Amino acid sequence: QPYADDLYSDNLCGFPHFMLKEIQQQPESVQICLAHYFHAISEPLLSVPVNLNEVHILACGTSYHAGLITQHWIEQLVNIPVRVRSGSEFQEAPLPMTANTLTIGITQSGETADTLNAIALDKQRRLAQSEVFQPHLLGITNQPNSALSQRVDWTMPTLAGTEIGVAATKTFLNQLIVCFYFTLELALSRQAISPETVQAYWAELSTLPAKIRAVLQLETQIKPIAQAMINQQHCMVLGRGINQAIALEGALKLKETTYLHAEGYSAGEFMHGPIALLDERVPVIAIAPTDSTHAAMIANLRQVKSHGSPIIGILTEDVPPETASLFDHVLILPAIADPLSPILSVIPLQLLAYHLAVQRGLNVDKPRNITKTLSE
Ligand code: G6P
Repeated sequence: QPYADDLYSDNLCGFPHFMLKEIQQQPESVQICLAHYFHAISEPLLSVPVNLNEVHILACGTSYHAGLITQHWIEQLVNIPVRVRSGSEFQEAPLPMTANTLTIGITQSGETADTLNAIALDKQRRLAQSEVFQPHLLGITNQPNSALSQRVDWTMPTLAGTEIGVAATKTFLNQLIVCFYFTLELALSRQAISPETVQAYWAELSTLPAKIRAVLQLETQIKPIAQAMINQQHCMVLGRGINQAIALEGALKLKETTYLHAEGYSAGEFMHGPIALLDERVPVIAIAPTDSTHAAMIANLRQVKSHGSPIIGILTEDVPPETASLFDHVLILPAIADPLSPILSVIPLQLLAYHLAVQRGLNVDKPRNITKTLSE
């Protein structure tokens, strides 16, 4: 397996920082994860009940954003309702109990107290009325021997290797791979999609390592963008549809590592108030691949432009020339099937966060005030 030793090594392997090493390793960590899961697509790895009525997802931070993307995938491809709740909110506001529900805990470390406590409470409430609300618990984690695994019925490892940088990067991408695999397996077992559609997605997924390598080549274009943002105080990250969660994740990466006040929004919701924040000192990063959300996104960005904000566009190859003029900087992603676009669109935001933090002279691997894991 390519670079398998480096993936699990806890030294820098020639990189200046762990965060950059872990971003650059993503083609290899994704390839290893794909190889593990997708040979098994026709012989399911799990025996999750197929008569599910709902899926509940509990997670925090970056893992919560993986949960939001998974919600979109399961709702659109499997056609069952999914609720996502932050582990930190679950104690006070547990999700309504529903029968035939799978609860998924997503946590890179497998040790985040808020997520573990939420899983424990969910299980306890269900066991108390198990004749109606039997618990079914799945854990998705990069640490298969963690506390999470002891609390769930099934564990799916994300196989990203060692991640030392506090800001999650390669573990997030691998969470998405595992969650998409799970979505396909669930969809197939419920006959929500055909085996041919699964094969078509698999063909797309197998192009990911090469496409991630192509996205990493954008680094030379991203460094001057980071330079231009060095003195900015605020920044907005906008996305629509499935990329709304990537807007949140991109803003989180920027906040965690650069201390820039970055906010992620649905571009549509941004029009309902927050747009008042904009002027020429507030850059906007727009995730606008050419998918079904593109026209609405461009309409939103015309409003943004009229308030003077510089716009950095994360676009796909086929962006029409008449809209290209809206953008002050353009970062072009390779084309990919629409549901998979978050797996590529997050990478320029990781690189921007990294380079802006380094150019600001900050400790990118150990930002102030936060730790990699908020355990008990
Ligand atoms: C901490 C980290 C975040 C991380 C979150 C969840 O708050 O600072 O970067 O996303 O924990 O971590 P987990 O290990 O549960 O994915």
